[in-house]
Amino acid sequence: MNALPAIRPSALLVSILGLLAAPGSTLAGDLDAEIGARLFKRAWVPAPTATKADDGLGPHFDARSCAACHPGAGRASRRLADDGEPREPGLVIRLDRHGAGDPVYGRQLQTGAVAGVAAEARPRLAALPAGEGMRWRVDPGALGYGPLSDETRVSVRAAPALHGLGLLAAVAEGEILTRADPDDRDGDGISGRAARIDGKLGRFGQKATGVAIVDQVAGAFSLDMGLSTPARPAASGDCTATQVDCLGAPSGSDAGGPEIDAEIVRLIGHFVATLPAPTPQSSSRREPGQAGARLFAAIGCAACHAPALAGPAGQPVAAFTDLLLHDLGPGLADAAEGDANAAEWRTAPLWGISSALKRGAGLLHDGRARTVAEAIGWHDGEARRARTGFDGLTVTDRKALIAFIERL
Ligand code: HEC
Ligand code: HEC
Repeated sequence: MNALPAIRPSALLVSILGLLAAPGSTLAGDLDAEIGARLFKRAWVPAPTATKADDGLGPHFDARSCAACHPGAGRASRRLADDGEPREPGLVIRLDRHGAGDPVYGRQLQTGAVAGVAAEARPRLAALPAGEGMRWRVDPGALGYGPLSDETRVSVRAAPALHGLGLLAAVAEGEILTRADPDDRDGDGISGRAARIDGKLGRFGQKATGVAIVDQVAGAFSLDMGLSTPARPAASGDCTATQVDCLGAPSGSDAGGPEIDAEIVRLIGHFVATLPAPTPQSSSRREPGQAGARLFAAIGCAACHAPALAGPAGQPVAAFTDLLLHDLGPGLADAAEGDANAAEWRTAPLWGISSALKRGAGLLHDGRARTVAEAIGWHDGEARRARTGFDGLTVTDRKALIAFIERL
């Protein structure tokens, strides 16, 4: 007997297709991206619903849709209410205890819960001024399941913009590996290394834990929204064994299958991959831009923020990242994840910084930096030499360098 499972579009997909396409038409090209865009914005609901089409949210969740944290596929804002509660859900609280989650709260402190299930916490954030920049103080607020483990480390992560990720996905592995120098053989103090996830090169996520865009999609469904996918089959998401109410809540899956099928994951991943790369703002006066770019290379920023990687057809992908992990020192260190230790981060792409700054979003992995200068001030470890190079520039040169970055 042939045991291959029948592939049938989910009820949800059929309902969305009904809005878009005449019966019998096939999915192709832009239509996939358009459906993916709708799914990206779709607000999922708790189970059970009559249709079973779009339920399964939670039991614990941080947001109901991808777009809630990545508004317009852009970066999360760092706006807080007066009491310190984030106004939007894009700042999430990750938990780590020796490479695993907290024994009671799991990998993330979710702020939302379905009816009948205790919410984990309503964290408040406060910006602690520290020298040039600031960092967050996290007050988890009333914890729904007792205290966190003493050994659990709490870290804030800000949702990044998603534009241009399709181009980063297409950069050949060899192009990334040529820049790796894990033992710092060239003696420049910079020892970028490739993240390995089950033997494969990780390039997505702030700690390079994602091999492909769809890994991030499945991870977000599980951790951020409490929805299961074939890659992350637990219907109860990030609930732990001690969260009995959470484990017992109704699931949105039919007969134990995933709440979100592979096709939905693929369509959202396809939408994300087709988001165009950010375009730099044109500079009104040519000279400062060129001077800024020269300084960027001269003081060693470009050693990690590679101005361009070769795309699959040899075209430049001007993301200003090498997609490698670097140790940026103790000030930015929070928790180990995947192949990265606490102090290691994937070089943040600098394209799109102009729109992040325009929207008032913070810089660095947790949005702590309000300006480019503050972000540079946090660079240490492998980036110390570049930072002291920046500090040693004349005021005019510093301005030119910042102006160059602010236009990316
Ligand atoms: C609760 C907020 C939240 C929700 C909901 C959410 N994300 Fe994210 N997303 C984040 C945060 C925070 C990060 C950065 C964390 C990290 O990299 O580990 C991130 C990272 C990503 C990345 C990696 C970006 C990069 O530069 O490598 C992708 C892709 C992504 N999200 C896509 C999605 C998609 C698609 C959905 C919906 C299925 C989604 N996210 C839902 C908060 C969220
Ligand atoms: C050793 C590698 C390395 C060097 C050298 C380096 N950076 Fe970075 N940079 C990183 C990493 C890794 C991050 C992400 C850190 C985080 O998110 O906490 C980052 C983040 C940033 C950010 C924030 C980006 C964002 O989207 O939030 C800016 C701005 C930045 N770097 C500018 C610079 C400038 C300017 C220089 C030169 C003075 C420089 N960097 C040198 C690795 C480096």
